[in-house]
Amino acid sequence: MDEPVYKRILLKLSGEVLLGDSAFGIDTNVLKFVAEEIGNVRTLGVQIGIVIGGGNIFRGVEASARGIDRASADYMGMLATAMNSLALQNALEDRGIPTRVQSAIEMKEIAEPFIKRRAMRHLEKGRVVIFACGTGSPYFTTDTAASLRAMEIQADALLKATKVDGIYDKDPVKEKDARMFNKISYTEVLTRDLKVMDSTAVSMCRDNNLPLAVFNLEKRGNIRDVICGKPIGTIVESEK
Ligand code: GTP
Repeated sequence: MDEPVYKRILLKLSGEVLLGDSAFGIDTNVLKFVAEEIGNVRTLGVQIGIVIGGGNIFRGVEASARGIDRASADYMGMLATAMNSLALQNALEDRGIPTRVQSAIEMKEIAEPFIKRRAMRHLEKGRVVIFACGTGSPYFTTDTAASLRAMEIQADALLKATKVDGIYDKDPVKEKDARMFNKISYTEVLTRDLKVMDSTAVSMCRDNNLPLAVFNLEKRGNIRDVICGKPIGTIVESEK
């Protein structure tokens, strides 16, 4: 039997993963796949918090480049994460997995407000807690929201599930000779500007010694394998 190395995790999902083969919005097959993968991890008794991005619906940074005021664009992006959170909640509950959505922006008709102590209770009761609307403040990414929530819920690790296999020395989509790291330090990620997450998110993990795992979500079993300490993707740790 696989034994989890981490008992409580914060899983960061990019909104773009939900696109699947579509150009916009949510591919329900991907949603179903993600829900299955999360269900698989939950059977190990691991407590799971999730932060999901909104890039499949709206990207604040791009919109601001096109002339929408940055703060407004970021708030629109946060609303996109709320949509993804509700979609994921639905997919998880379809599989009988109890969930709660907590939002950083009050929208009490559709989600609980973010209350740290309440989130912890939900986790202890085996509920998957989905944190919507990022940090609730503009100029912060959902990666930063993921590090922040990971710290707040005292997660043992932050798992960043993406579309590539791990952290590379250059963009693996554009450069054929890109090399993936199995392990790397936070400082190296920052000094080499490796763009795996924004610098605020990486610095927060470094300053609080939070292990960060970056791996491909699209391969079945990857989330479970990472949690069980198998050498999947890239692990970012403090320099010894
Ligand atoms: P326990 O107290 O541990 O049993 O947690 P609980 O979440 O089941 O308790 P509660 O009775 O507070 O919540 C019951 C349901 O109402 C859950 O599905 C919550 O997600 C939901 N809920 C609670 N507060 C809010 C809120 O402010 N807004 C919305 N939309 N739903 C809420």
